[in-house]
Amino acid sequence: VVGPRQSINLLHLRPFTLHSNRYHRGHSTNRVEYRAAATITSERERARTVAAYYNQPAVEAAAKKKSVRLTPSAILYHGRSEDEATILRSAQYLQKEMPVRVAKRIMAFRDLPFIVGCNPIILGVHELYLRAFNILNNFPAINTKEDEVSYSRKLSELLEDHQDVVTQLASGFRECRRHIHNEELVARFLDKTLTSRLGIRMLVQHHLSLRENKPNYVGIINVGMKLKEVIERSCQFVSRVASHKYGRVPLLKLSGHVNAAFPYIELPLDYILPEILKNAVRATVESHSEIEVMHLPPIHITIASNEIDFIIRISDRGGGIPHHLTKRALEYNFTTANDGATSSPPAFSGTSSPEGVFSNMIEAVNPNPVGGPMHGFGFGLPTSRAYAEYMGGSLEVQAMQGIGTDVYLRLKHINSPGAEKEITRCYSS
Ligand code: COI
Repeated sequence: VVGPRQSINLLHLRPFTLHSNRYHRGHSTNRVEYRAAATITSERERARTVAAYYNQPAVEAAAKKKSVRLTPSAILYHGRSEDEATILRSAQYLQKEMPVRVAKRIMAFRDLPFIVGCNPIILGVHELYLRAFNILNNFPAINTKEDEVSYSRKLSELLEDHQDVVTQLASGFRECRRHIHNEELVARFLDKTLTSRLGIRMLVQHHLSLRENKPNYVGIINVGMKLKEVIERSCQFVSRVASHKYGRVPLLKLSGHVNAAFPYIELPLDYILPEILKNAVRATVESHSEIEVMHLPPIHITIASNEIDFIIRISDRGGGIPHHLTKRALEYNFTTANDGATSSPPAFSGTSSPEGVFSNMIEAVNPNPVGGPMHGFGFGLPTSRAYAEYMGGSLEVQAMQGIGTDVYLRLKHINSPGAEKEITRCYSS
């Protein structure tokens, strides 16, 4: 199996070298090298790649299988002992489950409109999943501790290889945006692909965390998660980045049930919270001139926790979202609606930064992120909403045009009555 970078480069070389001047801009010294490499990409290589897309009986068979769900409540109540036998069982469960889930992702790529699926970046991600499928599906049976160790090492490598998938998809869809006639279809593909990927990554990280045996954690579940601490972590990060970019940051004020502590998974919160906060900060800073620096209105974060769910409201005074744009704020690639236009759309609260100011932000909050760097592709908000819904919750944006925006993130408690049913999706495929 070829390495991910190697194989993606092969896919990228042809279209970029042969058809695109854009790629050569700023890369002229490499031109000869790339042309030479493209020539080396022989017919044989191409035939193999094409065959790889056509002839995948193992993928098709796996994709037809039912995914075996693992719910957070099941983990919480049954997965407490992190002994060797549990870890071995967990690896064996993943060995069955992972090829099925990854195969379903591959099938979704196949269902994309031809012109979209041909985009070199999207094709690259498609191939990354094919490679992961082959690695996972061909892994020998796990019977011993040594098998488990080597399987876990493979999983860690795959997590890293797939780190930038969200950014790659965002960038690929931006490139082929003008060819997309059915936005619904693409939004459905992205919702499903991104949330299913979140589920896969949570499963893998859960297994890897089980092995670490961290106090107060059952795998990825923090059994006494202090919501305030999770929010503060994101606030500090977003403030640091914004301060670097703008030289000024509004105060982020936390109130409500600030002592709330309950079992939950931090991973999705570490993606969603910085996304919402960065929008609020950016809107606030950009809608107030520099003279007003002393008077930047604070961003209010209010927490409520009850026996069913917990709610985080983030309120900014960044001017709100103009009426004609309210619907679009939750669309994928919205900020680049005019096909990767170079001019920035107006700043308004609730949308994603088009400037890449917050790129790499997620890594700083969580070194093993779900999201990856976001360069203002307009993926932050729709992805956050999809994640919230996947976790059995919701994300709503309420604008007060002329004043600011309130974002409500609602998530069900893992151990609330009926949550088992609701959050089942969290670990479903
Ligand atoms: C992803 O992050 O895209 C994955 O699906 C991860 C998995 C292949 C380990």
